[in-house]
Amino acid sequence: MKNITEAPFMVEMIRTTTNMYAHGWDERNGGNISLLLEEAESCEYLAGAEPLRSLPTGFTAPELDGKVFLVTGTGKYFKNVQYAPEVNLGIVRLEEGGAVARLLWGFADGGQFTSEFPAHMMSHAARLKANPQNRVVMHCHPSNLLAMTYVHDLDERAFTRTLWQMCTECIVVFPDGVGVLPWMPCGTNEIGAATARKMETVRLVVWPQHGIYGVGRDLDEAFGLIETAEKGAEIYMKIAHLPLLNTLSDEHLHQLEKRFNLKVREGYLS
Ligand code: 13P
Ligand code: ZN
Repeated sequence: MKNITEAPFMVEMIRTTTNMYAHGWDERNGGNISLLLEEAESCEYLAGAEPLRSLPTGFTAPELDGKVFLVTGTGKYFKNVQYAPEVNLGIVRLEEGGAVARLLWGFADGGQFTSEFPAHMMSHAARLKANPQNRVVMHCHPSNLLAMTYVHDLDERAFTRTLWQMCTECIVVFPDGVGVLPWMPCGTNEIGAATARKMETVRLVVWPQHGIYGVGRDLDEAFGLIETAEKGAEIYMKIAHLPLLNTLSDEHLHQLEKRFNLKVREGYLS
């Protein structure tokens, strides 16, 4: 069997967690990622692997039964993933309708998947229905998006429109807008289900005073989505207290809609 630490998906996961830490999005153990592995790639590196342990998930997700995920560990620091991937990451296969995760590799110090596993798995199930190409769910704590949730109206339309107005690329990258949850305790099935419900129609979900979830076909796409929203929030936090002389008007945003043939969220532009 091939060496799993050299698998392209592992290399990319290590690069991404390292990069996210460098961006300041993942202080201490902040943030978590799950990556749905393709059947062929998981077979190539894990064929015949006997489960090391069984971990109860506390929820069911029948749509994900048999699916294999590379996922970050709870309490683990993104900055350390590159030095000890087999401790900070794990590969699990969901079984028994999602109620049990069989550990196939990793969490070598006896650890387990992120405490946000419900939000990740429920979001995967929701996104796979919307787009079967979706393989990544990413959560982190970018400072400007977080700061924005203290000073901006949390209405989804208002929040989305402000981000769209902050740089020309925002509406191009997330024409579907952002979802915003009310504040809720994290690490629960309830916040997981609420996040997944939003994920049926958007690819970015803000957790006020906490962080953000982004999804995508691959790690780059999920990262780029969050990166663009965070850039919008950074501009907002730089200008919100200053007199506004210019902005992107709805007329400008309609021009972008036309230019890039965007499917802009209905009712968000006037
Ligand atoms: P974990 O260490 O369990 O992944 O939790 C980090 C986090 O960001 C919680 O929302
Ligand atoms: Zn978090």
